[in-house]
Amino acid sequence: MNNPITTTPIGGPNLRAGVIGLGWAGQQHLDGYNRASGVDLVGLAGLETEHLQRLGDQYAIEHRYADWADLFAGTELDVVSVCTPPSLHAPISIAALEAGIHVLSEKPMALDSRSARQMVDAAKANGRILEVSFNHRRKAEVTAAKDLIDRGLLGRIYYAKAGWMRHSGIPGLGSWFTRKATAGGGPMMDIGVHMLDMALYLMGEPSVQTVSASTYAEFGPRGRGGANWGISSKTGGDGTTSYEVEDLATAFVRMSDGATLLLESSWAQGIGHDDMYVTLFGTEGGAELTWNRGGPQIRAWTQVEGVDAQLEPRIGANGGHAEAVADFVAAVRAEQLDGHQGDEALTRALIVDAAYRSADNSAEIRLEPGSAA
Ligand SMILES: NC(=O)c1ccc[n+]([C@@H]2O[C@H](COP(=O)([O-])OP(=O)(O)OC[C@H]3O[C@@H](n4cnc5c(N)ncnc54)[C@H](O)[C@@H]3O)[C@@H](O)[C@H]2O)c1
Repeated sequence: MNNPITTTPIGGPNLRAGVIGLGWAGQQHLDGYNRASGVDLVGLAGLETEHLQRLGDQYAIEHRYADWADLFAGTELDVVSVCTPPSLHAPISIAALEAGIHVLSEKPMALDSRSARQMVDAAKANGRILEVSFNHRRKAEVTAAKDLIDRGLLGRIYYAKAGWMRHSGIPGLGSWFTRKATAGGGPMMDIGVHMLDMALYLMGEPSVQTVSASTYAEFGPRGRGGANWGISSKTGGDGTTSYEVEDLATAFVRMSDGATLLLESSWAQGIGHDDMYVTLFGTEGGAELTWNRGGPQIRAWTQVEGVDAQLEPRIGANGGHAEAVADFVAAVRAEQLDGHQGDEALTRALIVDAAYRSADNSAEIRLEPGSAA
């Protein structure tokens, strides 16, 4: 993730950037702005006083506040990253967009698709850019797979499987992560959405027709499977270990072109290792992308003149948050609103919502035509 970032300012003064949230996510965005050219980090907000001071000093940020609303009141910003618990993504993003500030929000986009749609509406009404940080699609193996697909080597992808299954990785058990009102959901919202994003991206953004899903909470409610991630986990919450979300989710997603996707995500399960993968089945070949199974790997197959052939895809540089920030900055500089006002992220939010609705009602959910395309 240490590739040089090549954002080139297209004239004009430097963009004034702010970051809200001081946890792991906020720190990735700070690093991203710091590495992007043509950007001055001028504002920072977060509730943890020590982190605020340390990160503010590290990046020489002038304006520092505990609460996000004070940051907007006290600082002139052009762009802002929203790296707070999901319940604040929509309120902060909408306030920023209405104040004329371009927004890069962390995933999941919002607590639910209704709030996500309000974010998109605010971006469009105010002519501002709204991006959501889907950094995992920038992994080198995903870029390599996309290249194979774009060159026609796998044909049309008609079936895909994608999953992120942690054995013991409930972030901040009892903190905002495991509360419905602050997180919106469990692993489906948190890590499944990254796998959904990668799969849809590689499948060519097919229009989604139906979603059928199940959720389980077998380990979290018993206090098992915890991991100590997120700085809020130590300071947030009310000291209890409330567990209100799923710890495993499975979904079957049917596209209107007949393609299907099998999606699974867990924070805690009984198989004694983690797994992260995307498997693609195409009309001319297939590909397996795996992480966690002994390191990142991509294997791909096709046919050459009727003979099965294993491909050795070119693997480029790994990308992550820094590239997401750089692309956001580039879109802002170029005033490139088209395709940068949150529609793709809203699609993911609609599918995740449908999955939870399906699980709650033990029924397949049909999405309105065009609502998740
Ligand atoms: N894309 C990724 O790979 C990735 C990885 C980790 C987390 N995330 C996402 O980033 C977001 C934050 O996750 P995290 O792990 O950094 O969480 P965290 O709990 O470590 O940090 C959350 C931050 O939000 C701040 N905050 C809360 N209320 C605030 C308020 N009123 N005003 C200002 N700041 C406030 C807290 O003070 C804290 O600094 C979540 O949406 C999470 O899903 C994304």
